[in-house]
Amino acid sequence: MILVTGGAGYIGSHCALKLLEENKKVIVFDNFSTGHIETIETLMKEGKDNFEFFEGNLLNLNDLDALFKDRNIEAVIHFAAYSLVEESMKNPEKYYRNNVIGSINLLDKMRQYNVSRIVFSSTAATYGEPKEIPIKETHPQNPINPYGNSKLTVEKIMDDYDEAYNIKSVRLRYFNVAGCDDKTRIGEIHNPETHLIPNILKSTFNNKKTFKIFGDDYNTKDGTCIRDYINVEDLINAHILALNYLSAGGKTDFFNLGTNEGNSVKEIFDLCTKVTNKEIPFEIAQKRAGDPAILIADNKKAKEILGWNPEKTLYDSIKSAYMWELKQNK
Ligand code: UFG
Repeated sequence: MILVTGGAGYIGSHCALKLLEENKKVIVFDNFSTGHIETIETLMKEGKDNFEFFEGNLLNLNDLDALFKDRNIEAVIHFAAYSLVEESMKNPEKYYRNNVIGSINLLDKMRQYNVSRIVFSSTAATYGEPKEIPIKETHPQNPINPYGNSKLTVEKIMDDYDEAYNIKSVRLRYFNVAGCDDKTRIGEIHNPETHLIPNILKSTFNNKKTFKIFGDDYNTKDGTCIRDYINVEDLINAHILALNYLSAGGKTDFFNLGTNEGNSVKEIFDLCTKVTNKEIPFEIAQKRAGDPAILIADNKKAKEILGWNPEKTLYDSIKSAYMWELKQNK
């Protein structure tokens, strides 16, 4: 059985669904701090007897004991974390406590119950302000916010836990994750929503909140920030490959998950207009603190070592995200 922490959230639920489709037994552990009960209900329906849900908190050792005890957990995929950069700057305690201490608790229970493989959601935010584009895994890691620091700290802890306790890890450093399940069974729900694509798409509905472009005087081709948008289903495929890699005796390692290509906020906006066939109200607003101008992944390492091959286009991501928004707004 595979343990998926944070499986009621956006990315974790896509992973749980994929594992279930591959006929794996899955247990999701989540405290619903940012996850959703409806997502768990969908996973139950899809996974039937192969799916189990355990409501619990990584900061509660009793919850973790009850989770690991009497279950045959072969490997862990660890998504559960807070992930908003801006919030982490205002409330670092929340990020360090949940993301770092929560991960230590999880790793310690893995030790105690002899589970020796983990795939971890890391982030491009561990690199900080990029010195070269595209960003390779060897790029220095100097995060510029507590969120990035919390993830980098866990990456370092994982190195030490391998050295001392032989727990093997794969850390996947996500760039900008986009899109959702092709069949629209699950999707992205954040409250508040801060991410670019869902925010543009939400502006197409009745209440028509004007979409804000955060800054148009960056040093980029059209003045707006450039990001590397990776489709969530492609991203999840890398997690499955990472599990297989570890099962086959792979060593502890880390990989970027991105497409090697960047798109500006304006380009994304234009593509959203095309996909939705709607005029979307927008305005230029102030820059958001801490947004680097350009983030693009060099993804060669994941391709070479994991055999990963992202296939979906940006159009696919926006299309599936829009189908999901349409379903939510019915
Ligand atoms: N943006 C807008 N308007 C919006 C929302 C976003 O103009 O309403 C812009 C942002 O300024 C940025 C780009 O769109 O230039 C993408 O913003 P997102 O919030 O969608 O994504 P980020 O690049 O800020 O964040 C992502 C992940 C974080 C991670 C970060 C750094 O969501 O978890 O990359 O790697 F920390």
